[in-house]
Amino acid sequence: MGRVGTDQDLASERGVSCTGDLPAPSDPDLVERATVARKKLGSRAMVLGHHYQRDEVIAFADITGDSFKLAQAAAENPDAEFIFFCGVHFMAESADILTTATQKVSLPDLAAGCSMADMATATQVNDCWKALEKLGVAARTIPITYMNSSAAIKAFTGKNGGAVCTSSNAPRALKWAFEKGEKVLFLPDQHLGRNTAVIELGISLDECVLWNPWKPNGGLTDSQILNAKMILWRGHCSVHGRFSTENISDIRSRVAGVNILVHPECKHEVVTASDFVGSTEFIIKTVEAAPIGSKWAIGTELNLVSRLAKAHPDKEILFLDKTVCYCSTMNRIDLPHLVWAMEALVDGRLVNQISVEAEVAKHARVALERMLALP
Ligand code: 13P
Ligand code: SF4
Repeated sequence: MGRVGTDQDLASERGVSCTGDLPAPSDPDLVERATVARKKLGSRAMVLGHHYQRDEVIAFADITGDSFKLAQAAAENPDAEFIFFCGVHFMAESADILTTATQKVSLPDLAAGCSMADMATATQVNDCWKALEKLGVAARTIPITYMNSSAAIKAFTGKNGGAVCTSSNAPRALKWAFEKGEKVLFLPDQHLGRNTAVIELGISLDECVLWNPWKPNGGLTDSQILNAKMILWRGHCSVHGRFSTENISDIRSRVAGVNILVHPECKHEVVTASDFVGSTEFIIKTVEAAPIGSKWAIGTELNLVSRLAKAHPDKEILFLDKTVCYCSTMNRIDLPHLVWAMEALVDGRLVNQISVEAEVAKHARVALERMLALP
């Protein structure tokens, strides 16, 4: 069972448990086995698939979506007794928090973590908050945490008057926060925080400071903290962090008329040099609505970009970077793990259950429900 609420949530400490026989990836009957197991489970089970999942997994997803849509789906389907969450650990935790006490969530591979979520531990965030309290600014600071964070960080946020956000509602969450307070502590993705504050809310870069959890006082002077509107946590996504302005100028020079479309986890200079920015769901809808013959260079995870290219042969869909860029932890969930988890349930065993400790879940739910209620 996935432990929650302490710094032991780190992916490296979660461990992997695949008791029983994990089918070989080369098993020619995998698709047939998945089809049979899925049919036997019927409406008792629901498979949720994030847009970054492999095609072989997406083929068995009842609902696909970005992290916001999947959180909503978990909250709105109380009849599904079992949820197989094909995504990463923090998403499965959120599903467990938002579902009823009788529903159970399984993550087919417990090693499917998120390196960005692991960049903010509960101890580090509590230390930061204590420093803000000492300076007398905590009462005027609203914590906003990106969905890509542990349940413990979401609980901290709920306890301290804040909300969760995703890449599709970050502007609304920040506006909501600035109606309640003067400063925002944005966890753990500095890029989503900076891009949203500067591009969507018109906050200047000078009003954003970076809290480094590995340095005393976050590596900041008291006056830097006092003068800041946005205190950004020093976390980032290593997948989106690879995209550069050189990638953009290179592709613009090679492909006339290309549109650059990126995820807001990319660096600020990459987002400002792009034509469009938005969540995975936004990226899909933008490509779907684009005219035939249009050209798109997309800066997000490669499974999604490849799927878009296959689905839209009448448009030119390119990957923004020349080198391969999968999210290795999202890719941990493959068809063998999904088959293994579904067949175990057919045999009456739920494997890899993600169960958030009650006290943590209570406070984290407050922060998640504030997000779901955002105007
Ligand atoms: P979305 O919120 O767009 O689904 O993105 C989640 C994620 O992990 C992006 O790296
Ligand atoms: Fe985490 Fe980045 Fe993978 Fe998204 S793409 S799950 S932020 S490591």
